Amino acid sequence: MDKQEFLHRYLVDRHGTDCTKWDGLKEKFGESDLIAMWVADMEFKTCDEIVNAMVKRTHQGVFGYSCVSEEYYQIFSNWMDRRYHFPVQKEWVRFSTGCVTAIAWMINAFTRTGDACMILTPVYYPFHNVVTNNERKLVKVELAYNDGYFTMDYETIEKAIVNNQVKLFIQCSPHNPVGRVWSEEELEKVLAICRKHNVLVVSDEIHQDIVLGDKPFVPAAVVSKGKYQDIVITLNSASKTFNLATLLHSHIIIINDELRMIYDKFASALNRTEVSVMGMVATKAGYTYGEEWLGHVLDVVRDNYQYLRNELNKRLPKLKVCALEGTYLVLLDLRSYVEPEQTMDFVQRRCRLAVDYGEWFGENYHGFIRLNLATDPAFIKYAVENIIANAEK
Ligand SMILES: Cc1ncc(COP(=O)(O)O)c(C=O)c1O
Repeated sequence: MDKQEFLHRYLVDRHGTDCTKWDGLKEKFGESDLIAMWVADMEFKTCDEIVNAMVKRTHQGVFGYSCVSEEYYQIFSNWMDRRYHFPVQKEWVRFSTGCVTAIAWMINAFTRTGDACMILTPVYYPFHNVVTNNERKLVKVELAYNDGYFTMDYETIEKAIVNNQVKLFIQCSPHNPVGRVWSEEELEKVLAICRKHNVLVVSDEIHQDIVLGDKPFVPAAVVSKGKYQDIVITLNSASKTFNLATLLHSHIIIINDELRMIYDKFASALNRTEVSVMGMVATKAGYTYGEEWLGHVLDVVRDNYQYLRNELNKRLPKLKVCALEGTYLVLLDLRSYVEPEQTMDFVQRRCRLAVDYGEWFGENYHGFIRLNLATDPAFIKYAVENIIANAEK
């Protein structure tokens, strides 16, 4: 299947489907005729095998309480082992209705009110809220930014941990919105600091399968041959990979027995016993048959990124298109062309786009916007042409 055929078969118009990205425009942005490039889901229908598996299950017609089969664990473990050398054992796995929910549970299971939790900003805004909403102290450490590329500043991280007595670090890997796939070396450095100061690491790896370049994604739990497994809790899901967010099904992987016991005690207080049957059906089908479909999605995202970067570099050479190693979300630094306080007016009123604004991810990122590239290339063209036309005015 070539790219055109893929787009023809899988692109869908989501208007009128209770879709947050399009049907929620009016509520979020005050107008509904913008091109929606916010919300991190895709404009593509998921792969046929997932749809077929869900239809088959629907025809069976019973949606009662469900358990997790041996086959499910095997398929999940195979996916993780084959792609990331992380053969996940059944005993380590727990389930949640989403990765952000799981972060909230980890905060509650492993820290107390007032304890410090660290995030590396700019970062996905629910990371901020989930800490403050649970009455923990939010410690924000800025990533270093240089010419469209973000890196971790280890010295500042260590100082922040010591000064605030940080108990838990919420890692984002690959990182939304800065698009980094952290190398094993980078992860080793930050994990070593966490080990030294007894910081538990909750690694949100929901974007693990959306890797665009040559640099491999490395789960925190396998860094240095698993040296940090006793301080790492991994969260992941097939939801970004196969566009399944509202099936509400994600994994919590806790390798260390003691940590798992603490979590299980917490979970029993929540009465967490059930899993989403459709989430399981879809995840199983995706991990079994979905790799080819995923390859097509990654090709579209890569092409969208290349087109956007080439055109913007050519026409607006001072506009920074941040590197995109992973995720389908790209950060643009518009500050050379638009006054930061004018960004919303520029993007929405003049360019007619609905995007995520930099300041949602961190207060020093006024003038940055995040665009979703898992979409119709025609929308990317529209966005690029409007940005160029309005910036050149
Ligand atoms: C890093 C990260 N974690 C979690 C989520 C949301 O996951 P869930 O819907 O499973 O809570 C997103 C969605 O964009 C994300 O980027």
